[in-house]
Formats: sequence, structure tokens, C-alpha cells
Amino acid sequence: MTDPEIHQLEIEKIFSKKWYFIAHESEIPNKGDYVSRWIVHDPVLLIRSGAGDINAFINSCTHRGVHLCTADLGNKKTFTCPYHGWTYNIEGELVGILAGNKLYGEEMDKKEWGLRKVPKVESYHGLIFASLNPDVEPLEEFLGGMKWYFDIMLGRSNKGMEVIGAPQRWVVDTNWKVSAEVFVGDAYHTAMTHRSTVELGISPKDPLFASNGYQIQLENGHGLNVIQPPESVSIPPYQGLPEELWPMFEENLTEEQLSVFKNTMVFNGNCFPNLSFLSPMHGKGEHENLTNFLTIRQWRPLGPDKIEAWSWVLVDKEAPEEFKENSYKRYVNTFGPGGTLEQDDTELWTRLADASKGVTARDKNLHFNNVVNYLMGMDFVEPVDDFPGPGIAYPTTFLDVVHRGFYEYWQELISKES
Ligand code: FES
Repeated sequence: MTDPEIHQLEIEKIFSKKWYFIAHESEIPNKGDYVSRWIVHDPVLLIRSGAGDINAFINSCTHRGVHLCTADLGNKKTFTCPYHGWTYNIEGELVGILAGNKLYGEEMDKKEWGLRKVPKVESYHGLIFASLNPDVEPLEEFLGGMKWYFDIMLGRSNKGMEVIGAPQRWVVDTNWKVSAEVFVGDAYHTAMTHRSTVELGISPKDPLFASNGYQIQLENGHGLNVIQPPESVSIPPYQGLPEELWPMFEENLTEEQLSVFKNTMVFNGNCFPNLSFLSPMHGKGEHENLTNFLTIRQWRPLGPDKIEAWSWVLVDKEAPEEFKENSYKRYVNTFGPGGTLEQDDTELWTRLADASKGVTARDKNLHFNNVVNYLMGMDFVEPVDDFPGPGIAYPTTFLDVVHRGFYEYWQELISKES
């Protein structure tokens, strides 16, 4: 998990080659709106252009390479480098050089010195992905079956989703794969890691509660859990979202999507490599006062044993204001950086990274027989054939199927010749 050489290989063969989530379109609605982001260590400046498109540039001045815009977000007509004053417009064109003609002559062509474009940028239901690889496959091809589930969470209402506030960020001493593999399908940890919430009556007592539903293995290392209630528990349809939104859901989703959406308590998953999502119904007890929120996460590697967690909260644009506020509060209390459940997870992720740095953990020749266990359900839990969504569906979420899928794809990419 924390090997520096593997970290470098991941940057070269995964993060520089595949799609990387950077923002949601609602963060930059107006001309000149911008956000500063990163693809691991490459700074990216995302700007809403004059024509309403999304411009994505390497956020680095073409004069000497200084990090150009260090503000997180804002609205500007131009960006001026603080080093020598070169100035760029929102289309990335170099429009000003301090004493330019006197120093560089009339013939220097400013067009050649505009900001460098990020090679590929594509969106799906407002999620903006970027790639440093000009030959990367089309985004929709890469997402594959995950689109069907993104349609439910992000494409269900007429005006789409919007981000509440700015993304929250915090640093955790762990490796990005630890957090990604929890979100891809580790429902098994909930009863123990979040034990205190059971004792407080926030989470259900039954340790198998979160095992109900399906684990779905998708192509390209993607995966998710669709957690549904046991038969004895009834839940409000569509994750308890406001009733006035339901006609839109019924208009925008297929019968199959609606049947899954209606009866699901929690969607959690990971879109390879490091975009995770969680859409739970959360409240007091098993079915009291339940409110839905949707958080999406990007686990930005800062090094082999450090990540910067980025967390966005999304709501349907057309949802009532009161619901938006309640949804956000529920997120802050549970999975915000100081939330009860988020802190539980962070503690364990740090411990896992701590214990993976020693000689026994780096046991390539198995002198210490130091293998870890990803065997849950292997060879005895079979897929079902009546789940209506794409992917291979298994009839419980307490499984390591999606974890094995995540690491098989990881290994395929990491083993490729450069
Ligand atoms: Fe930006 Fe010199 S590095 S103007």
C-alpha cells in the first residue's frame, strides 16, 4: 500500500493514462467562473469559457512554469502570473507581456505561448473528468455499466444535480487504494468500525443489516453495493427524496432503474481509480427520520502514504430548499470531515497504512507468509440472473468480489509495458 516505487508506477500507468474526476459542472456555471484542481501533482485550471464551454488548462505559466492561479475558485476575466506578470484570458490565450515588444521584439507570436490544454476533458451528467492521455478511450466507454447507476444518482431529474458549497478537503495519512476499496464495496466494516453509532442508536443493531442487497462487479475495476432493506423493514421509496421529485424520476429513468432505486437504502461504490460515491438514507434508528444525501469523493494521492480527500455534496437542483439544507446537515454530521462515521473510517485507514511499511508487510518472497485476505464469498456465493442492472450481481454485499475486480484491473494496468 505505501511502497514509493509502486506509487510512481501508479502515477505513470494509471493516473496519467486513465480518466480522473476533477469537478462538477455546477461549480462553474457562469462565464469566467473557475476552480483550481489537481491530477495528482499536475495543477489544472478549469474555466467556463465565453461560449459556455469548459476550458481545462495546465495551471502553470508558460514563461517559467510557475503555478499560475492558486485561488481555489472565483470569477475572472484574466489571470496574471505573480512572477513576471504574463497575463492570460479565460480562453487560455496569452494577452499581456510586461514590456513585451521591448523585451521580446515585435515578432514574438503570443499565440504560441498560451496556456497548455489538458489533452482530454469529457463530462457525464455534470461530472467532469480529465485525462493527460490524448489517446484515452471515450469517457462513456470507460464508465461502461457504471453509467446506468450514475443515471439513477445524477441523471434522474430534469435540471440535474448541483453541488452545495465548495468541496471540503482534508488530509489523511493513508494510501488512496485503502479509501477506494472501502467505498467500492466494504459493507462488512460497518458494524464494527462504526460501532459507536450503533450504541448511540444512529445505526441498526443487526450486524448483518448492511449485507442485504447486491454487490455489483463492473468492467474496468468499477464496482458498487446496492444495499436494500431486509424484508421485515419497509423504507420510503427513492431513498426518501421529496415526493415532488418523483414524477421527474419516473420520466427520466427506465422501469428497471426505478425498480432498483425505489427499494434501495444505500448506493456506495467506486469508479476506478479514485472517484467514490455514497448515497445513504441516514437517520435515527433503522427507519426513523431518514434523509438522503449524496457525497462524491476524490482521493487525491499526495504520496504513497498520504491523500487529500475531496468531498462534494450534491442535490437535485429542483429539490425544495429545506430538503437541501437538511441533506447537507445530515452529510456534515456523518460523513463530513468531522462527521461521526468519517472519523471512524479515517482512524482505521491510517492504521492500515502504518502497518504496511515494515519488513513483514513488504514480504515479496513470503518468508513471513504475510498475505492479506480478500476471499469473502469466493467460490461459494454465485451471481444472480434476475438483477435488472448491468454488471455481475451477487446476492449480498458482504463479499470481496468487487475488491478483487478493483485489484485485478489495477494489476493489469500496472503490469503494462510503458
Ligand atoms: Fe509567469 Fe514569469 S513565470 S510570468
